[in-house]
Amino acid sequence: MAFQRLRLLISLIIVAAVSADRMVLHEQRAAPPAGFTSQGAAPANESITLRVALTSNNVKGLQDKLMSVSTPGGADFRQWLSMEDVKSYVQPSAATTTAFQSFAAANGLNSSVISPNGDWFSITLPISQANSLFAANFEKFTNPNMKTALTRTLSVSLPEELVGHVEVLHPTTAFDGPGTRPRLASGTRSRRAVPPDSCMGPNDTITPACLQTLYGIPTTPATQTNSTLFVTGYTEQWAQRADLVNFLKAFRPDIPPNTTYALETLDGGSDPQQADDFDIVEANLDIQYTVGLATGVPVTFLSVGDDDTEEAFFTQLLDTTTSLAGAANPPTTITTSYGSNEVDFGSSLATKICNGYMALGARGISVLFASGDGGVRGGHDDESQCNNNTFIPVFPSTCPFVTSVGATVNFNPEIAESFSSGGFSNFFPTPSYQSGAVAAYLKSLPSDFPGIFNSSGRGFPDVAFQGSQFAVVFNNKTAGFDGTSCASPGFTSVIALINDRLVADGKPVLGFLNPWLYGNAGALTDITIGHNSGDACGNSTFSGFDASAGWDPLTGLGTPIFDKLLTAAMA
Ligand SMILES: *[C@@H]1O[C@H](CO)[C@@H](O)[C@H](O)[C@H]1NC(C)=O
Ligand SMILES: *[C@@H]1O[C@H](CO)[C@@H](O)[C@H](O)[C@H]1NC(C)=O
Ligand SMILES: *[C@@H]1O[C@H](CO)[C@@H](O)[C@H](O)[C@H]1NC(C)=O
Ligand SMILES: *[C@@H]1O[C@H](CO)[C@@H](O)[C@H](O)[C@H]1NC(C)=O
Ligand SMILES: *[C@@H]1O[C@H](CO)[C@@H](O)[C@H](O)[C@H]1NC(C)=O
Ligand SMILES: *[C@@H]1O[C@H](CO)[C@@H](O)[C@H](O)[C@H]1NC(C)=O
Ligand SMILES: *[C@@H]1O[C@H](CO)[C@@H](O)[C@H](O)[C@H]1NC(C)=O
Ligand SMILES: *[C@@H]1O[C@H](CO)[C@@H](O)[C@H](O)[C@H]1NC(C)=O
Ligand SMILES: *[C@@H]1O[C@H](CO)[C@@H](O)[C@H](O)[C@H]1NC(C)=O
Repeated sequence: MAFQRLRLLISLIIVAAVSADRMVLHEQRAAPPAGFTSQGAAPANESITLRVALTSNNVKGLQDKLMSVSTPGGADFRQWLSMEDVKSYVQPSAATTTAFQSFAAANGLNSSVISPNGDWFSITLPISQANSLFAANFEKFTNPNMKTALTRTLSVSLPEELVGHVEVLHPTTAFDGPGTRPRLASGTRSRRAVPPDSCMGPNDTITPACLQTLYGIPTTPATQTNSTLFVTGYTEQWAQRADLVNFLKAFRPDIPPNTTYALETLDGGSDPQQADDFDIVEANLDIQYTVGLATGVPVTFLSVGDDDTEEAFFTQLLDTTTSLAGAANPPTTITTSYGSNEVDFGSSLATKICNGYMALGARGISVLFASGDGGVRGGHDDESQCNNNTFIPVFPSTCPFVTSVGATVNFNPEIAESFSSGGFSNFFPTPSYQSGAVAAYLKSLPSDFPGIFNSSGRGFPDVAFQGSQFAVVFNNKTAGFDGTSCASPGFTSVIALINDRLVADGKPVLGFLNPWLYGNAGALTDITIGHNSGDACGNSTFSGFDASAGWDPLTGLGTPIFDKLLTAAMA
């Protein structure tokens, strides 16, 4: 007996020693993204909380099912899945969960499941132990545009027994960037917007009335309570109720000025009113152009909090998908005006977050994102890269399961905005629903096109909407703001109003939009003029992509024609 036990002990030690040697590189980067500087090793005794994504049992099955329910013509078109149906694909197998839990127990780690589908666990451990268990070297990185330092490692490995069971460890090699914000409009009327005077706000700004006229968006209120719209609020930016009242008084005098939005919070998100200028413009814009355009649609502002110790945009995106995965009555449309360079996420985290959107789409939720404001250059603040012609795609817009919205300017003709981000993913291949549209565009590019991009990647954006000089009320003042941040709430409002009509007619909502949109390009106005900027530093000698007949990587399929989209939706 004693002998047997001793032998068992010895074999365990040997196994442990062997597996400690067999580390398999999981993800690495040569250097931190531009803008981040290492301040040296993270203190060994500091603790870190790692989120661990376990491999879902059947992501491929969920993807096939999503394509089937979202592509017109099939027998199960728009037969959206229940929460339990989605869970059956997303949850890890028992073998995977056991493998991880055994690893955690063997290393004295207290692991807890943190997602309704059982695919995310959390472990808290000292940096020294994280370094040794995952062959990492956690350091502190600072960025002049961020308030807190990030604890990250340039390389992370998995013990062999976890390979195939663990998809992501976060935070490790992903660098949450400082995020993008809408910009104060710089244009003057003579150069830019030329809509009719009668719809315009102070200083020639675009108002809901201009957008209603241009796209035929109805002013009559929605009638259904279960076509709903969520506005996500990240990176400590909060909508202000007093500003919404003044916005509605000024620009929607036909609806009650006390029309408002509900609040939900996640990860300790807060809702300060009378916050300072800097922190309210994005959220005010997003709320004012949903409550103010999706007339009568119930709107909710989802305020997502940061980690206690550092800014955590990527975790905010992640937690939004896992929280909605467990919501019995999720919203039917979601708009997000935040994004970051795809490369900063790394492939495994981007894929996992993207699969979260896949799961939401399968439940009948339309997930829309602003495409970004840096033209083909993603984050647009790195001056050392002014003349670099390698294009930088923006995530989550590059996820094939979201609908990405670019920006236009001008009425009649409507033209592409130069800041409108677009391009091609380096992580996600071209999905089938857009393969014809993308191939046609690529064929039209001149053979000496100077930009370097991945022509086999998912092309974005999918659609466009006005994005220039939107009148926004903040701190009781009105000013014009530019950005695809204007475009995503606008396009989402159109979808929410169409959902309202569908529900009223006893039909299922639109859900994941893209296969339906690419099959109904005639219900959008094709934007064929303009190009996006290739140089984020205001250097006009290098341009990005041109708008063209058909889909293009700056305005997608084009801008909405409400009546045609409604007719296509009802068909
Ligand atoms: C970590 O170690 C340093 C230096 O020994 C000490 O000053 C600090 O209080 C320790 N921190 C924690 C969280 O234990
Ligand atoms: C383990 O986690 C549980 C749940 O989070 C907590 O209640 C418990 O105190 C933890 N135990 C240790 C030893 O950290
Ligand atoms: C118009 O813009 C000018 C210059 O930015 C500003 O001083 C003025 O207050 C604005 N007017 C209104 C009504 O917002
Ligand atoms: C909206 O409510 C109606 C009536 O309760 C129901 O039939 C329909 O399925 C609901 N639609 C959505 C998208 O929840
Ligand atoms: C808005 O005001 C009207 C009239 O004063 C009132 O009847 C209604 O209940 C108010 N609505 C909200 C959401 O406060
Ligand atoms: C140009 O940008 C690409 C993508 O960010 C990067 O990999 C490359 O190193 C850059 N080239 C130079 C010369 O900085
Ligand atoms: C280009 O995109 C494809 C498809 O997503 C991917 O497999 C490949 O790794 C990408 N190439 C580069 C250089 O990023
Ligand atoms: C904003 O304007 C309204 C009137 O339009 C006024 O009642 C309110 O006190 C103002 N708030 C601030 C913070 O100036
Ligand atoms: C703009 O690009 C041209 C051509 O590459 C270059 O000569 C010039 O220095 C650039 N200007 C700035 C401000 O980067």
